[in-house]
Amino acid sequence: MKFLLQNIKELVQITNNSLLFRAGSDMQSVNTVKNAFLIIRDEQIEEFGPMDELKDKYCDDDMVVEIDCSGRLVYPTYCDSHTHLIFPAAREKEFVDRIKGLSYEEIARRGGGILNSAKLMQTISEDELYESALERIDEIIKMGTGAVEIKSGYGLTTESELKMLRVIRRIKKTVPLCVRATFLGAHAIPEKFRNNVAGYVDLVINEMIPAVAEEGLADFVDVFCDKGFFSAEDTERILMAGIEHGMKPKIHANELGFTGGVQVGVKNNALSVDHLEYIGDEEIVSLKNSETMPTVLPGAAFFLGMKLSPIRKMIDKGLPIALASDFNPGSSPSGNMNLIASMGCIRYGMLPEEVINATTLNTAYAMGISDSLGSIAKGKTANLFITKAIDGIESIPYNFGSNLVETVILNGEVQTF
Ligand code: NIG
Ligand code: FE
Repeated sequence: MKFLLQNIKELVQITNNSLLFRAGSDMQSVNTVKNAFLIIRDEQIEEFGPMDELKDKYCDDDMVVEIDCSGRLVYPTYCDSHTHLIFPAAREKEFVDRIKGLSYEEIARRGGGILNSAKLMQTISEDELYESALERIDEIIKMGTGAVEIKSGYGLTTESELKMLRVIRRIKKTVPLCVRATFLGAHAIPEKFRNNVAGYVDLVINEMIPAVAEEGLADFVDVFCDKGFFSAEDTERILMAGIEHGMKPKIHANELGFTGGVQVGVKNNALSVDHLEYIGDEEIVSLKNSETMPTVLPGAAFFLGMKLSPIRKMIDKGLPIALASDFNPGSSPSGNMNLIASMGCIRYGMLPEEVINATTLNTAYAMGISDSLGSIAKGKTANLFITKAIDGIESIPYNFGSNLVETVILNGEVQTF
């Protein structure tokens, strides 16, 4: 089946197939074609270019669907490379506690936070988890997300971690967006192991990881490597066990302090290190010339009122940056990547072009899928969104809080909301 988008005001984020991410000053490059067409065959982008070349490229008879995109821009869908969108319930009470003055860390120490979600996770059924996750998935598709990474980590027992990962597997099979699963057993230290962190790390390594691998449930292994959570040493042990079982590392690091998390991630070839509020020269040197994508989560910093990651400095030093939502009930209860794009510009001083690279190609890299998603290139999967009638690429970050995405196409099919 063939499918034509025509009269596209501007086709955004065109790359060649071999470009896997953009770094440093290249992050300011976004190639576009004005007054463009794009042809999808089956699930893939077959052809695109300026409208005046369209006549030579196809004959009308074999075109099944045509969409007129006058006044509208077409983008590759967002890739959201860091979410915890499977969770048993919202945590609005903690939100109010924080307004009243408690910190995220204090709430966690009192058994709230991740442990609160973990408690509820023990009793909720797989079906309930699945249904509530589907609602969130529908919501993020409407806002332009076409690929999402989802973590476990609210189970903290072997059984509940497996339950979460089985829900992700089910989601992978039933939703049209591209899904990657991450095992995050080391997300918090369960009450029972409060005085025996090594015991919990052993459980993650000796019981959870082999069980997860046995069912082939995770693409990646993650650890919350931070002050009050897991040390760099614990993290390395867990990453090595994950690697042995075929999971690529992708970790939470340097959100609450200078913990050596970035260095441990880089040393173990992590696909990404995420959060990065605490980044100094040593971390930048370590990330330079590594294969690890520095990923910032503006929603969490916004929601928790944290200091900002020095993105401008990192890009100026030549690093790539990815921006993801961190959709989760404790620190970022939103998967709105349009808002993340706005925050990139407004709070971190990124240019609209840099934000486009950070939310599409670079996040695709951080999910290991930038060979097939994250940009407009021939042969890539046709995951695209068509905007409402807008002025240009500045419009999305400028109109913070709005959803300017009008139509979403996933695997070459228009999604109906
Ligand atoms: O990425 N930092 C660790 N984990 C999550 C928070 C999860 C929660 O509070 O439920 C995050 O921000
Ligand atoms: Fe997270």
